[in-house]
Amino acid sequence: MTSEEEAALETEKRLEEAVNSSDIAISVRGLRNSFGDQVVHEGLDLDVRKGEILGVVGGSGTGKSVLMRSIIGLQIPDEGEVHVFGEPMIGRLDDEEALAIRKRWGVLFQGGALFSTLTVAENVEVPLREYYPNIGPQLRDEIAAFKIRMTGLPCEAGPKYPSELSGGMRKRAGLARALALDPDLLFLDEPTAGLDPIGAAAFDEQTRQLQKTLGLTVFLITHDLDTLFSICDRVAVIADRKIIAVGTIDELLATDHPWIQEYFNGPRGRAAVSAQQRHSISSGGDAPAERQ
Ligand SMILES: Nc1ncnc2c1ncn2[C@@H]1O[C@H](COP(=O)(O)OP(=O)(O)O)[C@@H](O)[C@H]1O
Ligand SMILES: [Mg+2]
Repeated sequence: MTSEEEAALETEKRLEEAVNSSDIAISVRGLRNSFGDQVVHEGLDLDVRKGEILGVVGGSGTGKSVLMRSIIGLQIPDEGEVHVFGEPMIGRLDDEEALAIRKRWGVLFQGGALFSTLTVAENVEVPLREYYPNIGPQLRDEIAAFKIRMTGLPCEAGPKYPSELSGGMRKRAGLARALALDPDLLFLDEPTAGLDPIGAAAFDEQTRQLQKTLGLTVFLITHDLDTLFSICDRVAVIADRKIIAVGTIDELLATDHPWIQEYFNGPRGRAAVSAQQRHSISSGGDAPAERQ
């Protein structure tokens, strides 16, 4: 083994210990983001616990995607700290430890963002080529096929181009790509936007199953009240440039912030609650109110 390989192994080991030593997967402190005169975040704090699905909600343009981009290093904040698995991430795009952390997450961007000139399988292989250039083509194909099946797509989807797939299948292909590196942490930006209710519910169920099976931590931006009620362990609300509340939906309902009351107690919120209650009665439990 070369000294470089030894150093890389040492880093992986140290990170493994860091990953296991804290209950917090992501910690954001004092985040500030602005574009020209427009301040999007100011003094934003957030903790994401390991193994949870944290839903992130807020009005359109409140900075949900910018928050995600700040955490994954695509947006350099004006101020603030971001730690992922205990490692500081800001301004550390290229060093070896930051790279080792980046390998531990997968991202499904808003809109899916598949490469339209690549097949589904080739899309899934992109992160493998980028982070594991030594993996040969046959193994890469096998990994891609496995990930594609994991997300509920048929194997025949592999050689298809994104334009040949339905919206729901494209989302799943994006999910397969996000899972390519066996991540511990999954970022999903409005994954059910644009899907019909049945497709959205199926995607939610798939997310929950994968999260349970693989022990994932999920940072899930969504507008979808059904998603929030059915699969999120906790929900963080962005308004007024920061996280104004985070907790279970019951805990959020106990706060008197007007946006939260309007959102969860408005007609659509109430419809989502009663749909969830109906589901919970018919399936014999696991209502969100009982989740920890
Ligand atoms: N690259 C950018 N340049 C300028 N403004 C941006 C950029 N990205 C986001 N914004 C602005 O920041 C605000 C928050 O955007 P975003 O995080 O995408 O909102 P959302 O909560 O809907 O995901 C919006 O007003 C948006 O126009
Ligand atoms: Mg967005």
